[in-house]
Amino acid sequence: MFEMRVNIISKAAQLILAGDLVAFPTETVYGLGADATSDIACAKIYQLKGRPSNNPLIVHVATIEAARKIGMFNEAAETLAAKFWPGPLTLVLPLNLGANISKTVTAGLNTIAIRVPSHEVALEVIRASGKPIAAPSANPSGYVSPTSAAHVRQNFPDLYILNGSNSEYGLESTIIDLTSKPTILRYGFITPESLSEVLGQEVVYTHGYDYLKAPGMMIKHYSPRARMRLNATTLEQNEMGLGFSNINFDMNLSESGSLIEAAANLFNMLQILDSKTKAIAVAPIPNNGIGLAINDRLKRAGA
Ligand code: TXA
Ligand code: MG
Repeated sequence: MFEMRVNIISKAAQLILAGDLVAFPTETVYGLGADATSDIACAKIYQLKGRPSNNPLIVHVATIEAARKIGMFNEAAETLAAKFWPGPLTLVLPLNLGANISKTVTAGLNTIAIRVPSHEVALEVIRASGKPIAAPSANPSGYVSPTSAAHVRQNFPDLYILNGSNSEYGLESTIIDLTSKPTILRYGFITPESLSEVLGQEVVYTHGYDYLKAPGMMIKHYSPRARMRLNATTLEQNEMGLGFSNINFDMNLSESGSLIEAAANLFNMLQILDSKTKAIAVAPIPNNGIGLAINDRLKRAGA
């Protein structure tokens, strides 16, 4: 059993080193990985996803030391990395001029988004390849993000996919820009309150889509093919519903009203409903803590 896993990881590392793509589990969502030092390998990510070329990628490394070689760490970066890595937080930092990172990764920006994931399989692939790995979520650009190997397989049947359990958090990492005043560019599992508390200063949020530094945070994103209606308390004709707490529809993000559970279920349930109906109604989700990230994804999914 152990040997089989070692073989699978080393095959993935060989593919990465050969400039090919590999999908792998992380604690947030499944990633579509390539050697971040190779222009050709990274170009394959954009091609397979149909991703706009001005939307930069996140680089995944196994240690803070490796991250320091790529991004210029300031005090805030050191503080957040020490507290939240490995884990679902991405830091946007000035790109280290000496770093060996493909321009395809940064889309030509002089900043870089970096994170150390906590999923053991992700870490093993990074270590085995010895490369920083550029990895967006492993979905066609604009579509719902994958939280299981099966989701990845549905969209990319020919891809080499490392199997892990369903994603623990189910939402992409929180992105915080530390190149000037700490600014959240994407809500995620790590909340503004906890970031502010750890940094000892208020952290602001800027909508990625009117913020040049995050060209990828389009208004319409994470979208099922079905039409979406938010804040629904009853269902209209032909709709299927995604409930929350005591609003029970066809599926329920969390009957107990847990936002953590709701986040973990969100993309999976959206994909299931998307395969069954052309119109999805979603119950109101409290807009605090992790609810900020859930509502952010829902708003864009329905845009
Ligand atoms: O949880 C995650 O972060 C997942 C897993 C696979 O790690 N990855 C992920 O990647 O969500 P992706 O490509 O779906 O989202 C990356 C986001 C994009 O919105 C992009 O615009 C932003 O990060 N980004 C990347 N580099 C940036 C930079 N230098 N400045 C600002 N935003 C950046
Ligand atoms: Mg994505």
